[in-house]
Amino acid sequence: QLHTSLQQALLGWYYQHKRNLPWRGETEAYRILLSEVLLQQTRVEQAIPYYHRFLAVFPSLAALAQAELEAVLRVWQGAGYYARARHLHRLAQTVSELPSTYSALLELPGLGPYTAAAVASIAFGEPVAAVDGNVRRMLSRWMAWEAPSPKQLQAKADELLAPEAPGDWNQAMMELGATVCLPQTPRCERCPVAWFCRGKAEPGRYPT
Ligand code: ADE
Repeated sequence: QLHTSLQQALLGWYYQHKRNLPWRGETEAYRILLSEVLLQQTRVEQAIPYYHRFLAVFPSLAALAQAELEAVLRVWQGAGYYARARHLHRLAQTVSELPSTYSALLELPGLGPYTAAAVASIAFGEPVAAVDGNVRRMLSRWMAWEAPSPKQLQAKADELLAPEAPGDWNQAMMELGATVCLPQTPRCERCPVAWFCRGKAEPGRYPT
């Protein structure tokens, strides 16, 4: 019941406050994958033009598979962390269609637990939590955990996830971390789930 309240509060906030981003409302796994790979090391504002550019030149996994690596790297130019572009290209040459489960996605080149969970939940509705630095910070504060292990974080994140809307839930977590539960000065007065947060009196005690 506590979890249901948490889920309703955060999802309700997300539906009201979410930014209108080009991959929101997308269901094609390839597009979700591209957005998540870009967003791992590139800020949202900077990622948006690359997302559009990349899809204009490589509109599908098949188109990406047929491209020369040099052409892929050229489109990626300026986005940084070129290993991401190499991995995407290799991935496209490895599979003709993206698998639809977390465990199968995890096998693909360049996909770690975060990306596999993001794609599985957003594109395929699998109830698996995507844990990145933002989620780590929020969970640490919520639970007042000063040094949580990755296992502990993943387990708690999976436990709290809204099972009927896993993709929205994961994106709601990302959104809260990016706009409210900030590393240095969290805006607790604007937080829809501050009542759930054991660490809000001293947010600086927990990992940022
Ligand atoms: N950061 C990582 N994934 C994201 C997403 N889907 N929306 C906004 N920010 C993100």
